[in-house]
Amino acid sequence: MNTTINDWAGELAGRHIVLGLTGGVAAYKAAEFCRLLVKAGATVQVVMTDAACRFITPVTMQALSGRPVFTSQWDARADNHMPHINLSREADAIVVAPASADFIAQLAQGRAGELLSLLCLARPLAQAPLLVAPAMNRQMWAHPATQRNLRQIAADGAHVLAVGCGEQACGENGDGRMLEADELLEELIAFLAPKQLLGARVLVTAGPTYEAIDPVRGITNRSSGKMGFAIARAAREAGADVTLIAGPVALPTPRGVRRIAVTSAVQMHAAAVDEARTATVFIATAAVADWRPAHAAGNKIKKDGGGQPPPLALAENPDILAEIAHAPRAQSGELYCVGFAAESDDLLVHAQAKRARKGVPLLAANIGPATFGRDDNALLLIDDEGVTELPRASKRALARQLVAEIARRVSGGEEGERV
Ligand code: CTP
Repeated sequence: MNTTINDWAGELAGRHIVLGLTGGVAAYKAAEFCRLLVKAGATVQVVMTDAACRFITPVTMQALSGRPVFTSQWDARADNHMPHINLSREADAIVVAPASADFIAQLAQGRAGELLSLLCLARPLAQAPLLVAPAMNRQMWAHPATQRNLRQIAADGAHVLAVGCGEQACGENGDGRMLEADELLEELIAFLAPKQLLGARVLVTAGPTYEAIDPVRGITNRSSGKMGFAIARAAREAGADVTLIAGPVALPTPRGVRRIAVTSAVQMHAAAVDEARTATVFIATAAVADWRPAHAAGNKIKKDGGGQPPPLALAENPDILAEIAHAPRAQSGELYCVGFAAESDDLLVHAQAKRARKGVPLLAANIGPATFGRDDNALLLIDDEGVTELPRASKRALARQLVAEIARRVSGGEEGERV
């Protein structure tokens, strides 16, 4: 698993999810997914088809969800005897995981032979979105009938999730594996997030840069990249097309984000200038090294035995943000630039001066030593309107707030569409 559960704590608080299981070996992943949903704060009602019950028992799913599972449209628990109506009306989202080829075919035809297909058909389209996580053998996946059915259910309003590629339970190798539990959760959280940056092309720089002295030594800094990665993820959740130019950090790439890995400031500069040609928002969170060794040695520098350190001449790195913010696309308003300021003291004074020097409409200031490597942070947002304080919170929460603030400024104050 890529991420820790702490990343998701509370993310689905107040949400009610109907989790539908159909027949497939991937049902074992649905058990883990159910657990993650509950840990993320959602209430979960599991509905299983007969075939699903052959792969995993309702007992397991009841224990994980904390609620008795529904398996039949003839279930007499509800007074009105209409589980398909009740369940679909209560749901903030219906997620079918795993969705077998047969179940997808049923959806495509609007069939309602079992409780799960029945409630999918009976759901109010505008209020209860349907997410489908396909899971099947690669030949079944590639079959024209399956692909036709997938197009059909998407046209009918279902949100079809991607499949993974790799070794399958049948021993074959290819497309059709169901996404992993953590990937499903990320997809659902992103799906439910307000789409405040729909259509935007967001470019983010993140992490430190590393400036080689020789093949084994270099100059770098303590930036963890966490804030920038959280911003990239939040922007993607808000509907943007996101490119993340990252210095050397081991963080996993947020789902749906395109990552360009770089090492040095010069490489980051080249990639950023190139990407900024088509971006509409540029958020510079990277802690770019201000200087690099003027000449990186080709071989490891050896001690001379005389106690004398080698001379280290430095050259200044390009200022990526200032250059992009002063270029015509930013000046004409086609590209909205956001800078960060990492300071150690006199935050507001330094940050205001930096905003003017960089020529950016919005600058997010933080105390470097109080944020590097941590999972939380606090920001001061500075723009023409004045100063807005975003109090200490998780970087994930702050990233969302910052994205919302940027979206409000980019769209001229219009509220984003809520799914
Ligand atoms: N930045 C950049 N390229 C650089 C240096 C900084 O794009 N060569 C960007 C950072 O990503 C950040 C902003 O400029 O958005 C400010 O970075 P910071 O390190 O706080 O300031 P510096 O410009 O390096 O200035 P100083 O070291 O004097 O505080």
